[in-house]
Amino acid sequence: MGIQNQPYVIDEEPGVKHWCACGKSENQPYCDGSHARLNTGMQPIKVTIEKAKKVAWCGCRQSSNKPFCDGTHAKL
Ligand code: FES
Repeated sequence: MGIQNQPYVIDEEPGVKHWCACGKSENQPYCDGSHARLNTGMQPIKVTIEKAKKVAWCGCRQSSNKPFCDGTHAKL
């Protein structure tokens, strides 16, 4: 759990998601409030999924297109 060197690939249903930016959530790739509890100074990124689709959420936190994987993890 947490930061990993590959995306979290998930079949998402429509709705609002909060991607964990700090890497401390125990419910990856979604925010569980750990950023505030651990005083990380970071905030999740809110995304509205309009229709069901497969999403590659960035797991390495280095993507230039957060919260989505852009392949940067392969260069780390
Ligand atoms: S996991 Fe692919 S860019 Fe972060």
